Amino acid sequence: MGLPEERGRTGSREQEEAGAQSRVQSWSPPPEVTRSAHVPSLQRYRELHRRSVEEPREFWGDIAKEFYWKTSCPGPFLQYNFDVTKGKIFIEWMKGATTNICYNVLDRIVHEKKLGDKIAFYWEGNEPEETTQITYRELLMQVCRFSNVLQKQGIRKGDRVAIYMPMIPELVVAMLACARLGALHSIVFAGFSAESLCERILDSSCSLLITTDAFYRGEKLVNLKELADEALEKCREKGFPVRCCIVVKHLGRAEMGTSDSPSQSPPIKRPCPDVQGVVHTVGGYMLYVATTFKYVFDFHPEDVFWCTADIGWITGHSYVTYGPLANGATSVLFEGIPTYPDVSRLWSIVDKYKVTKFYTAPTAIRLLMKFGDEPVTRHSRASLQVLGTVGEPINPEAWLWYHRVVGAQRCSIVDTFWQTETGGHMLTPLPGATPMKPGSATFPFFGVSPAILNESGEELEGEAEGYLVFKQPWPGIMRTVYGNHERFEATYFKKFPGYYVTGDGCRRDQDGYYWITGRIDDMLNVSGHLLSTAEVESALVEHEAIAEAAVVGHPHPVKGECLYCFVTLCDGYIFSPTLIEELKKQIREKIGPIATPDYIQNAPGLPKTRSGKIMRRVLRKIAQNDHDLGDTSTVADPTVISQLFNHRCLTIQ
Ligand code: WT7
Repeated sequence: MGLPEERGRTGSREQEEAGAQSRVQSWSPPPEVTRSAHVPSLQRYRELHRRSVEEPREFWGDIAKEFYWKTSCPGPFLQYNFDVTKGKIFIEWMKGATTNICYNVLDRIVHEKKLGDKIAFYWEGNEPEETTQITYRELLMQVCRFSNVLQKQGIRKGDRVAIYMPMIPELVVAMLACARLGALHSIVFAGFSAESLCERILDSSCSLLITTDAFYRGEKLVNLKELADEALEKCREKGFPVRCCIVVKHLGRAEMGTSDSPSQSPPIKRPCPDVQGVVHTVGGYMLYVATTFKYVFDFHPEDVFWCTADIGWITGHSYVTYGPLANGATSVLFEGIPTYPDVSRLWSIVDKYKVTKFYTAPTAIRLLMKFGDEPVTRHSRASLQVLGTVGEPINPEAWLWYHRVVGAQRCSIVDTFWQTETGGHMLTPLPGATPMKPGSATFPFFGVSPAILNESGEELEGEAEGYLVFKQPWPGIMRTVYGNHERFEATYFKKFPGYYVTGDGCRRDQDGYYWITGRIDDMLNVSGHLLSTAEVESALVEHEAIAEAAVVGHPHPVKGECLYCFVTLCDGYIFSPTLIEELKKQIREKIGPIATPDYIQNAPGLPKTRSGKIMRRVLRKIAQNDHDLGDTSTVADPTVISQLFNHRCLTIQ
């Protein structure tokens, strides 16, 4: 898995001036969820949490007993050093224990838990009538067959395999077949270009590529095999012929088979150039995703779980594949997009499979909010109990809509804060236990001990704002940056010795709730006042005309930096001088005159990564009319960039 893409986020934080926190309405967990919950009260959460951080070895040791270990851990259960001043950073959970994650998520579920006939996935294709389902036993069989194919192609433990496929059951089969052999899968999101695929193949010197002939995303046909061929050609030009390419015929829905491999020559052995992957370990990652899945979604055997993330992202690895399967859960696997054939697609799927727990990103919620309540309320959604979000701070506006409209005020919302590096959830409510505050990721998960530091590295108590760090390791923490341990130490441990540094700003309110204020790099300094872009964005999207907003700093001769805002309007509104004035007034009232923007630009679209994060780096360049944008290969829709350049604000409004 690669290092996370550029990070950014849109507004969070409650709207009112300082001291207003006590007025933020908090929502009790719904009684229906609490009644059967694994953790049915805040007090129970606190007891469990205390034990998990005070006795991490015992806490996780008990959980580890649930899993299959080929050899158990011969030495200490946990050893680590988080302090760069005391030597090399290392984190070792269950050192020397061996296991196989595929065995744990399939064989163990089929043979030990006797759940072979249970449905692992309901698959829903791009077209609503394209569906299929697969049981745990069938999945195990397919994985065994396919791992034999891989083995025949010479794949062995430690080899790297690139997977470039849409969200179809064969993608899960391919990844688990790799895991079964101890090969490393590098899953490249099928929305990435040939160039990006080539880079990723080279990054980890993959000897084999698994791809698909073609697929539809909404109305768009994607000829994936053509892109894969182009990528393989590029790899060859760069002196790295990939040994074999396996093509799954998806549009024809035929069996998996090996195609003519583009080159039979063995790969040239050469040192990996600039490999930058986040390294997770099998044992720790497995324990952590399984446990977070169980508690954060309050998993019960009869649940139908649906995480809308693509498996190409860590969210998909952890909460489409490994977490749910490790628990023997039934999930929905969805190939399509939320707006095809129409904007009520997600809710029609919820009703079709009676989804009980649903997990998506704030950007999807904001997208759907633009179309109003009717596409949601047209469907019953009576099965829903828990609604999750991940990826960026959810602004209270979107949270309240998710809660009121999608969840009909009777579902728990779990706003889960975590990172590619953390493997699984870090700050999150538990659905039957935690009173929710819109926009707050609330409290730490088991085993997680957060702190807020000031610039000099002092831990702040009580109500405070500063750097979010973690004081001790949890099993899912990354262990290094592949081939670059120094970079690992420098990025996460150097700034504040003794702590894992997230890079996010955070505030703790008087009730101990954590509120992520956004990436530290996105803070603005206006005339010496530090502002978080998130709070300005949150104030903007509260206006009824604004669907989405992104704020960046812009050089200013007097203030140092001023605010340049990009706003996307809701359907049916027009961009006008009156609207600009209203927005400025709104920000002045919500935050203060210091935050009044100098520029507000209409943005029909915002440059986002394919995982939905706004690329503020690109927006800063657009604001300055600087066309030297650097690497833009991760922009989902490059046309929005030229559109924004053409409509820059030329004068101060
Ligand atoms: C960054 C991690 C975790 C999988 C998807 C993103 C931001 C993530 C939240 C949240 C506020 C959030 C942070 C974090 N973020 N979830 N619930 N509230 N911010 O993974 O690409 O590794 O990004 O996303 O800034 O550091 P990622």
